[in-house]
Amino acid sequence: MKPIIAPSILASDFANLQTEIQMLNQSAAEWIHCDIMDGHFVPNISFGLPVLKAVHKYARKPLDVHLMISEPQLYIEQFQAAGASNITVHYEACPHLHRVIEQIKSVNCKAGVALNPHTPIALLEDIITDVDVVCLMSVNPGFGGQKFIPHTYQKVAALRELILAKKAHALIEVDGGVNEETAPLLLQQGAHVLVAGSFVFQAADPLQTISNLQNSTY
Ligand code: DX5
Ligand code: ZN
Repeated sequence: MKPIIAPSILASDFANLQTEIQMLNQSAAEWIHCDIMDGHFVPNISFGLPVLKAVHKYARKPLDVHLMISEPQLYIEQFQAAGASNITVHYEACPHLHRVIEQIKSVNCKAGVALNPHTPIALLEDIITDVDVVCLMSVNPGFGGQKFIPHTYQKVAALRELILAKKAHALIEVDGGVNEETAPLLLQQGAHVLVAGSFVFQAADPLQTISNLQNSTY
């Protein structure tokens, strides 16, 4: 099975967002990854609901919305209305994670949980059968273009084991520092979805780069 490639528009040219989205529509990407940052949960601010709505107007692929925000439960319905197909919240931002996952599913979105680099896989034991996606952060969230944290390979393998042991159906997504070197190794450990920001948008040929990522072999 080929991996799902989810380019992150955080690294795109915001002044030409329509062109960037149209490029992704033509590409081998299956999802469009949208990073929402609030300057509170993470030390950076990206974009919010109005921009997501504008992206949705042109996007012909599901929007994979990664909420790096505190109190995400206050905004789930609004993100769905703005065009999200998948909504991922951070484990570290949700004391009532099960409730938020149910809330996301109640608006007919796929429900994801993201783990920061220091958060152990074992903490997912009692939620793994309820989620559609687990997003493993392979950088500390907040910025594109950071260096990949190699410990992520072990986390992908551990998550694959947990999913098998619990007969869960969750997809394993990896976010941060994905490129032609890290992608094959992540796939080897069992990743299903690769998010890539700067590697795609800083490439001379983003379409070819997306296709190469999708055809990564190990
Ligand atoms: C980081 C974001 C990532 C980021 C990835 O906080 O969640 O999605 O855009 O960017 P690259 O691929 O440049 O590491
Ligand atoms: Zn992200």
